[in-house]
Amino acid sequence: MKIIIAEDYKELSRKAANIISAQIILKSDSVLGLATGSTPIGIYDQLAERYCTGELDFSQVFTINLDEYYGLSSENTQSYHYYMNKYLFSKVNLSKEHCFLPDGVNLDSRAECKRYQELIDNLGGIDLQLLGLGHNGHIGFNEPADFFEKKVHLVDLTEQTIQANQRFFESAEEVPRQAYTMGVGTIFQAKKILLAVSGEEKAEALYRVVQGKISPQIPGSILQLHPDVTVVADRGAAKLF
Ligand code: F6R
Repeated sequence: MKIIIAEDYKELSRKAANIISAQIILKSDSVLGLATGSTPIGIYDQLAERYCTGELDFSQVFTINLDEYYGLSSENTQSYHYYMNKYLFSKVNLSKEHCFLPDGVNLDSRAECKRYQELIDNLGGIDLQLLGLGHNGHIGFNEPADFFEKKVHLVDLTEQTIQANQRFFESAEEVPRQAYTMGVGTIFQAKKILLAVSGEEKAEALYRVVQGKISPQIPGSILQLHPDVTVVADRGAAKLF
C-alpha cells in the first residue's frame, strides 16, 4: 500500500486527480470505478477543469459506480445518479452510454445485483477504482459484518452510516435504509485502487484500514492484501501515522 499525505483537502483532490488523469492518458478506454459522497467532489472538480483545458478526453472512458440507494430514482436529488450528473457527467465529454450505476428503482434485488455484477464482468473488470472511506471502515456500502461480501448485493445500512449521510437529506428518516453496492470481492478485483480520505474524523478508521487486523468488521482492511493500492490522505486523516 502506498500512502501519499497531502497538506489539505485541495492538495488531496489534486493528487488523486493526477492519478486518475494518468490512468486516462495511459489507457483512453479505461474503466473507472467511481464513488460519491463529500470526498470525491474536489477530485471531480479537478477532472472537469482538466477536461476544460483540453488536458483530458473522456470520450472513450467507461465509468461504473460503487453504489446507489435502493428505491431512489435518477431524478431524485439525493440519488447517486443525480450526484454523478451534477459533479462529473455533465461537465466532461463522457458518453451517456458509457456511464453505469445500480438502478435504485429496480426493486427486484436479485435481478438488479445479477445485472450489475454481469455488467462489470462484461466490461472486463475495473482498471482503477476510486474509494472513499466510511467512519466505520466501510468501502462502497460494505458495512462491518461477519464476512466479506463477494459480489454486488443489497445491503442494510448501519445506523452510523444513516447518521453520517443524514447531512445530505432533510432528516434521518429520509435516508434510505438499504443500498445496492459492489461487494468487497468486486472492488478487490479492480486492477488499481485509489482510496481518498479526508478529515480528522476519519483518522481512526484509516489507521485501522492500513495498520489494523484484516477483518470484515473493518471492511476496508482487506485492501492490505491488494497488490496495487494508493491511499491519498490529508494531514487530518493521516494524523495517527
Ligand atoms: C460512496 C461510498 C461510500 C463513501 C463513504 C465516505 O459512493 O461508496 O463508501 O465513499 O461513505 O463518504 P464521504 O466522502 O461523504 O465521507
